[in-house]
Amino acid sequence: MNSDLPRIPSHVAIIMDGNGRWARKRMLNRVKGHERGTETVRTIVRASREVGIPFLTLYAFSTENWSRPRAEVMTLMSLLKRFLNNERAEMMENDIRLNAIGDIGRLPEDVRSTLSKTLEMTADNKGLHLTLSLSYGSRSEIVHMVRQIAEKAASGMLDPQEITEKTVSDHLYTRHMPDPDLLIRTSGEMRISNFLLWQIAYSELFITETLWPDFNRDEYLDILSAYGRRDRRFGKVAETS
Ligand code: IPE
Ligand code: IPE
Ligand code: MG
Repeated sequence: MNSDLPRIPSHVAIIMDGNGRWARKRMLNRVKGHERGTETVRTIVRASREVGIPFLTLYAFSTENWSRPRAEVMTLMSLLKRFLNNERAEMMENDIRLNAIGDIGRLPEDVRSTLSKTLEMTADNKGLHLTLSLSYGSRSEIVHMVRQIAEKAASGMLDPQEITEKTVSDHLYTRHMPDPDLLIRTSGEMRISNFLLWQIAYSELFITETLWPDFNRDEYLDILSAYGRRDRRFGKVAETS
């Protein structure tokens, strides 16, 4: 636990953006940016665990990212596979439980099997819940949720009048986790890019200009500490006013 932090978020979600720009600035291939980005993932996972954050969700690959050039998509898939193979031991050592959300069925077979192996191996770990959003799109998640609820209603398992916000949350991929308290996006874009649209209704947002490969532990801790100073009102009046 880090005693310098006044309030630890239960769930941090991160849009890891800027790998390509990091590479371009150095006249390197985008692949190099993605490789360096993987290093940052390692750093941020470690820091989250040390600080005692219970849930960390990383946006690693969106449904829209399938439209990138085939070579880039293949590189991202092979980096993902390498990451899973390389990090398995550390996840076990540090009691990290891996979770994946998104249209996992769309991932190549070898990535899926490496992922399943890591998910199974870490399933009983009780420390940090690390979720990778893979082939994830919030709108597609919402469509999936609506279908499930509609099927239950059509079969008489569920009375439409009894559908609540909790019913909706319980049919999303994120049903086992609290909503993010904090959403960080690197590389300065002021957009959500189809990430956790329902779940971030009341998340605190932090957008940093830093490109993901340059994002580091110190900046992360600064953001966590700034989060602790935010006044989360949830539509109410501040207690001090
Ligand atoms: C984030 O970096 C990685 C993924 C979206 C997979 P980008 O590849 O989007 O980098 P930029 O935005 O082009 O700099
Ligand atoms: C968002 O980044 C998706 C991930 C970080 C995986 P993008 O680079 O794909 O998003 P846009 O294109 O800037 O909206
Ligand atoms: Mg980008």
